Amino acid sequence: MRGIILSGGSGTRLSPLTKITSKQLLPVYNRPMIFYPLNTLVKAGIKEILIIVAPERAGDYLNLLGSGKQFGCKFTYEIQDKPKGIAEAFIIGENFIDQEDAVMILGDNIFEDDLSEQIKSFKRGGKIFAKQVPDPQRFGIVEFDDNMKAISIEEKPKRPKSDYCVTGLYIYDNRVIEIAKNLKPSPRQEFEITDVNKKFLELGELEVAMVNGKWIDAGTFDSLLEAQNLAKEKLADKLII
Ligand code: DAU
Repeated sequence: MRGIILSGGSGTRLSPLTKITSKQLLPVYNRPMIFYPLNTLVKAGIKEILIIVAPERAGDYLNLLGSGKQFGCKFTYEIQDKPKGIAEAFIIGENFIDQEDAVMILGDNIFEDDLSEQIKSFKRGGKIFAKQVPDPQRFGIVEFDDNMKAISIEEKPKRPKSDYCVTGLYIYDNRVIEIAKNLKPSPRQEFEITDVNKKFLELGELEVAMVNGKWIDAGTFDSLLEAQNLAKEKLADKLII
């Protein structure tokens, strides 16, 4: 399985912190933010990792992470010219993914859980990770039937059908490349990861696993502070890189 960390975008919500560097390189306690999603992948045994970055920040990433050899990994870098949507990662990453399955994590997503077994046990189709949130209008939302089988997914619904948010960790088999290539941009002009998930749901091949521990999308001042505290109190001694 190949790994992808999507670490582009402009991080405008964190300005002025992001005026001179990328959001995903900001400090979260004793590591740059991207080290947390990187740990999630490396703990699961993923060694070949594509890091997708914005053009103006590519040098910072190379300086920080290099070839990956020091972590026992091989890093590849690609530029995303504009933030045209999360699903574009599978188009940018086509050659890198080659014939393999792919696990992608967003560079600002911090999971308290060790998800290694969940990643290793992936077989085929799609597998995503849900967490209950107090503000479901802000996320991709998955609805379940009485047997906790996923029945619908909507991106930032005005009237959410549940409070189960789709977090920023996604595992797909190789069909994701063709699915991503056939997407149409959404009304907000993005290639939506929610549309990829809908496709696997239609095929009856989408598994939704639950996140038990904390999950933080560290993209706002408050969630960044929350991430710092979680990192200090719970994560620091569990990091392997
Ligand atoms: O955080 C989980 C949510 O992420 C999901 O519940 C949603 O379904 C999904 O669409 C996404 O929601 P947002 O619209 O809030 O994502 P955002 O645009 O903030 O992007 C998430 C991260 O991905 C951010 O750190 C920047 C990076 N990114 C995003 C886009 C759209 C890129 O590197 N390139 C992109 O083109």
